[in-house]
Amino acid sequence: MKFFVDTAEVDEIRELAATGLVDGVTTNPSLVAKSGRDFTEVIREICEIVDGDVSAEVAATGSDDMVAEGRKLAEIADNVTIKVPLTWDGLKACRALTQSGVSVNVTLCFSANQALLAAKAGATYISPFIGRLDDIGLDGMEVIDEIREIYDNYPDFDTQILAASIRTVNHVKQAAMAGADIATIPPKIVKELVRHPLTDKGLATFLADWQSTGQKIV
Ligand code: E4P
Repeated sequence: MKFFVDTAEVDEIRELAATGLVDGVTTNPSLVAKSGRDFTEVIREICEIVDGDVSAEVAATGSDDMVAEGRKLAEIADNVTIKVPLTWDGLKACRALTQSGVSVNVTLCFSANQALLAAKAGATYISPFIGRLDDIGLDGMEVIDEIREIYDNYPDFDTQILAASIRTVNHVKQAAMAGADIATIPPKIVKELVRHPLTDKGLATFLADWQSTGQKIV
């Protein structure tokens, strides 16, 4: 499973990329607004830090304008992926962009049928939003299960399932168990993944016992 980081904060991306565990980055207009920075500059900087795909979202709503914005954003760096919303116009733009060799992430997916359309439109990634489905009392992970089953039924689909709107470490585990290809995870949750109280406790005991031996390894 690949890990993408879901943020437009360059410092956080740099810190996490140093672990070697970051396979890509996703941004969206809300995350860019939160960063308070120029969109193009932020995407350029992220693409310099991370080798993998970096999603940059269009702001237009009509397919022709989405394609124009997508082509412009794709010029920023080779590893830019264009994010388009799951609308008819977004699907048309997805088809046009992928046919011209641009990688596309179809975002704001909330159902298996939407994911089926995105795969037929040639999407590189489909982003089902787990947390936002849970927020309205539905089961986000059930949608990941359904998409996995549908995509596995049709080996000619090569759209990758990018589990998005991840809010908890449990979401990451469940997405992995459901066979999502990628999870895009907020930096805070990435950091929480490594933590377990028994790891901290066990390490403290090992270090104290080692110190009592008076030995050194190097
Ligand atoms: C990523 O591509 C999505 O834009 C993001 O995961 C949405 O997360 P949210 O529902 O927490 O805003």
